[in-house]
Amino acid sequence: MAAAPLETGIPGPVGDKYIGNLHAFSSDPLRFLTDCSRAHGDVVRIGEHNVLLSAPGDVETMLVDREGRFTKRSPLTLRRGRKQGFPTAMMNSDGPDWQAKRHRMQPAFGRALTARAAEIVDAQGERLLGGWRAGVPCRLDEDVPRLTLRLISELMFGSAFSDRDVADVARMVAPIMDMSTSPLLLPEWWPTPAKVRIRRSAARVDAVLKALADSPHAHDPERAPVLHALLHGDPRPTAEEIRDELGTLVMAGFETTNDSVVWASVLLGRHPEAAERVRDEAAAAFAGAPAGIARMEALPYTHAVVREALRLYSPVWLSSRDALRDVEFGGLTIPAGTTVTVSQWVAHRDPRHWERADSFRPERWLEGSAPAPRGSYFPFGLGPRVCIGAAVATTETVHIVADIWRRFRLELIRPERIRPRPALALQPTGVEAVPRDW
Ligand code: HEM
Repeated sequence: MAAAPLETGIPGPVGDKYIGNLHAFSSDPLRFLTDCSRAHGDVVRIGEHNVLLSAPGDVETMLVDREGRFTKRSPLTLRRGRKQGFPTAMMNSDGPDWQAKRHRMQPAFGRALTARAAEIVDAQGERLLGGWRAGVPCRLDEDVPRLTLRLISELMFGSAFSDRDVADVARMVAPIMDMSTSPLLLPEWWPTPAKVRIRRSAARVDAVLKALADSPHAHDPERAPVLHALLHGDPRPTAEEIRDELGTLVMAGFETTNDSVVWASVLLGRHPEAAERVRDEAAAAFAGAPAGIARMEALPYTHAVVREALRLYSPVWLSSRDALRDVEFGGLTIPAGTTVTVSQWVAHRDPRHWERADSFRPERWLEGSAPAPRGSYFPFGLGPRVCIGAAVATTETVHIVADIWRRFRLELIRPERIRPRPALALQPTGVEAVPRDW
C-alpha cells in the first residue's frame, strides 16, 4: 500500500533533508523515541510515513484494534518475512488467516502447559545451576540462553535441543536479532551483514526445524502439546507453515525469556535488599511447594521483580502496524498506509503515568498499589494479538530468577558497562557476574 507522505500538521523532528530521521533513529533508537515523545507530544511524525503514539488510550486503541483499522502484514513485515523470516507463521499473518491459526494453537497454551513449564524449569535449572560454583564467574550471556532454548524446545516440541541444535539455533537467532526493528526502512537491496548471515544459516536451521516436526514426540499431545496442536489442528498446515510456525515459536519464546531473566538478575544485582527478599521468598517456596502453579503463588515478590524488570527493560520495545484507512488520534488525521508505532520503552518510563519512572520499585506491583493504566504497560502486547506465550514466559522467568537467587547472590562485574541493546529484542550487553554464597 503506497502512503502519501504525512501532512506537516503532525508534529515531529525535521530530520535530514535526504534520509530524514533514519540516522537519529539507528544511532540511538531508545533516546530518539523518548525525545520525540517528550518534545513533540502523544502523536509524533518520526518519518515520512511513520507515526509514534504515546498516550495510553491511543496505544490501547491501536493494539486492541476493535474496528480492524490496522494490519500487521505491513510492507515492513512482508519485506522482512519473505526474504529472511517466517512469513506464513501466525505471528506474521492477519485477518481470518491469523484467526484460524491462533484458534489452532490457543488450546495448547492453557494452564497445563504453564504447569509443565514450571516442572521443566526445575529439572533444567538444576542441570545448569548445579554446575555453577561460588567464586567462579558465570557466563549469563551463554548459560541463560542455553537454558531457555532447552526449556522452550522441551516444552513446545517434547524434547530438549541437543548441544549442537542449541548452537545452530543460537547462530540463526543472533543475526535475526541484529536486524533492525526500525520502522524507518533501509532500501530492500541494502546488503546488511545480518541479512547475509541469516541466508547462510538458513539451510541448517531448516534441517533442525524439520527434524522437530518429524520427531516421534510430534504426535504425542501430552509430551509435545504445541507441536501436536499445530500438526493435527484444523486447518492442516502446509510444510512451509510448519517450518515458519516452529521458527517463530523458537525465536519468540527463547530470546525474550532469556532477556527477561538476565535483566531481572541485573536489577537484583544492583539492589541487594530486593535480592535478599527474593532469596528468602524463594528458599521458602522451593522448600514448601512443588514446581508449578502452587510454587508460583508462593513467589509474589519475585513475580513483582519480574514485572518491574519487564517494565524497565521490556524485551519487546516497540510494535508497529500499518493503518488500513485514515485514522484519527489526538485530533490529528493519520493517512492510510502510515506505519503506526507504539513503544514499550517510552510508555513504561513515561513520568506522567509512573511515579519515579526510572527507579526499580517492585513494590509498585504488590497488592494495594494503584494499577497502571492499560496502554502504559504492555510487555506482552494487548488485545487479540497479545503474546500467546505470556503465561509460560512469566512462569519460566519467575522460576528461573527464584532458582538462581535462592542458590547464589550474583555479584555484577563492572555493572556500569551493562547497557540495553535495542536489537529485535532489548538485549542486555556487558553482563558479567560472579555467583557468591549468601
Ligand atoms: C518474556 C518473554 C516474552 C515477551 C516479552 C513477549 C512479547 C510479545 C509481544 C509484545 C507480542 C505482541 C507483538 C505485537 O503486538 O506486535 C508477542 C506475540 C507473540 N509471542 Fe511472545 N513474548 C514472550 C515470550 C513468548 C513465548 C515463551 C512464546 C511461545 C512459546 C511466545 C510466542 C509469541 C507468539 C506466537 C506471538 C504472536 C501472537 C499472535 O500474533 O497472535 N512469546 N510476544
